[in-house]
Amino acid sequence: MKGLAFALVLMTGCATEQITIVGREPTPAESIWIAKCGSCHRRVRPATQTPEHVEKEMAKHQRQRRVKLAPEEWAAIIAFLEGPMPEGIVSSVR
Ligand code: HEC
Repeated sequence: MKGLAFALVLMTGCATEQITIVGREPTPAESIWIAKCGSCHRRVRPATQTPEHVEKEMAKHQRQRRVKLAPEEWAAIIAFLEGPMPEGIVSSVR
């Protein structure tokens, strides 16, 4: 039950957040993150979770088919979340 309560908290987060990349083209991982990672919860920021947690969560997302990605896209999104927060990511909420 603890997990469910947590999921509900995540889902009441803002679904209408708009992400813009300023001054450069988005990387492939950023494009996935922008397009596919904000529909169920607020987009989890890079460098905010331990690598163990990111990998566990992404395996769960993949297993439950929350997002459909190619193997190299899963690897890219994991590297993105484990890496530093890149420059130029601007979030606005409408
Ligand atoms: C279909 C709904 C859905 C989509 C789409 C989705 N997620 Fe999630 N995500 C969840 C749920 C539900 C949780 C709550 C914990 C759990 O059950 O894994 C979660 C939790 C997480 C967590 C853990 C957050 C924490 O604070 O512990 C991360 C990281 C995450 N998601 C990343 C992503 C990324 C990256 C994408 C895009 C590739 C994505 N999610 C797309 C449903 C989704």
